[in-house]
Amino acid sequence: MLIKNNDDGFIHPVASEITPPAAYRGRRDLLKAMAAGAAGPVLAAWASREAFAQTQRPGKLAPLPGARSGVAGAVTMEKVTDAKDATSYNNFYEFGTDKGDPAKNAHTLKTAPWSVEVEGLVKKPARYALEDLVKLSAQEERIYRLRCVEGWSMVVPWVGYSLSRLIEKVEPLGNAKFVEFVTLADPKTMPFVGSRVLDWPYVEGLRMDEAMHPLTLLSFGMYGEVLPNQNGAPVRLVVPWKYGFKSAKSLVKIRFTEREPKTAWNKAAANEYGFYSNVNPNVDHPRWSQATERRIGEDGLFAKRRKTLMFNGYEAQVAQLYAGMDLKKNY
Ligand code: MTE
Repeated sequence: MLIKNNDDGFIHPVASEITPPAAYRGRRDLLKAMAAGAAGPVLAAWASREAFAQTQRPGKLAPLPGARSGVAGAVTMEKVTDAKDATSYNNFYEFGTDKGDPAKNAHTLKTAPWSVEVEGLVKKPARYALEDLVKLSAQEERIYRLRCVEGWSMVVPWVGYSLSRLIEKVEPLGNAKFVEFVTLADPKTMPFVGSRVLDWPYVEGLRMDEAMHPLTLLSFGMYGEVLPNQNGAPVRLVVPWKYGFKSAKSLVKIRFTEREPKTAWNKAAANEYGFYSNVNPNVDHPRWSQATERRIGEDGLFAKRRKTLMFNGYEAQVAQLYAGMDLKKNY
């Protein structure tokens, strides 16, 4: 995106509902330090350890299994990215712009109570409590490639259901042409929402036929568990044939509109981030090539970059949505 990120190479520890032993030790050290009049630096170290200990990682979250999806193209046979990598190397600018920031900072996100407002050009606008939204349709597991505009990719087993299930329930009106996705922007729990890197809230959008496509996933989980905060808890979008930034995290509003929504990245740099943003190895980003990608977890000096595939490999399923369109103009 606009900011250069550094890999932090950090191993993030396990989340725990109970206070971890290290934190007890930390408190004991802190008390000793206070008695000795040297609390300042010890306090800082303790606070960062405490935040670190709350990082959310698969293996410790509530289970959310889904039956393997039967949707065409929904299950790639490629090697799944290690959960540790997919949950510690993230873009979630509300929590910072470095790849390690979301895993370190997103423990402050409050995901309950949570609701999603569905509004705009629909016959049945509604506010769905998360509990009802989760149950609206059967949960499926889909193994999708996700290709970030920055040139890296990963393969993740997501859990959720086709967004079209929700859209059918609310009955869009005939003049609804687009769907806008608005995400949470809470300066109290999201430390970077005050920054000027984007015009908050983070907003994304899809054309109606894209939103209705069976591959477009409303996701509540990954790796068989509820989403960790850093990956967009408690509910996010996953649109596998588009660059990762279209997959908006922590959704609070879904609005049906007649006009193309103004998306956060398009507002920030229209010549770099178009509305469509379909993965396309033949259309370079103005500042770099999109022809190849690095698969997360395949690092090292001799790791080969992979060729990026048209529509991220989902061409058979989605190419007809763009028949006759100039994809160089509509990037
Ligand atoms: N959603 C919100 N609300 N804020 C963000 O900064 N980043 C996007 C997308 N959704 C982003 C967001 C980008 S650039 C990518 S690549 C994906 O989330 C990353 O999802 P992941 O962390 O689960 O890999």
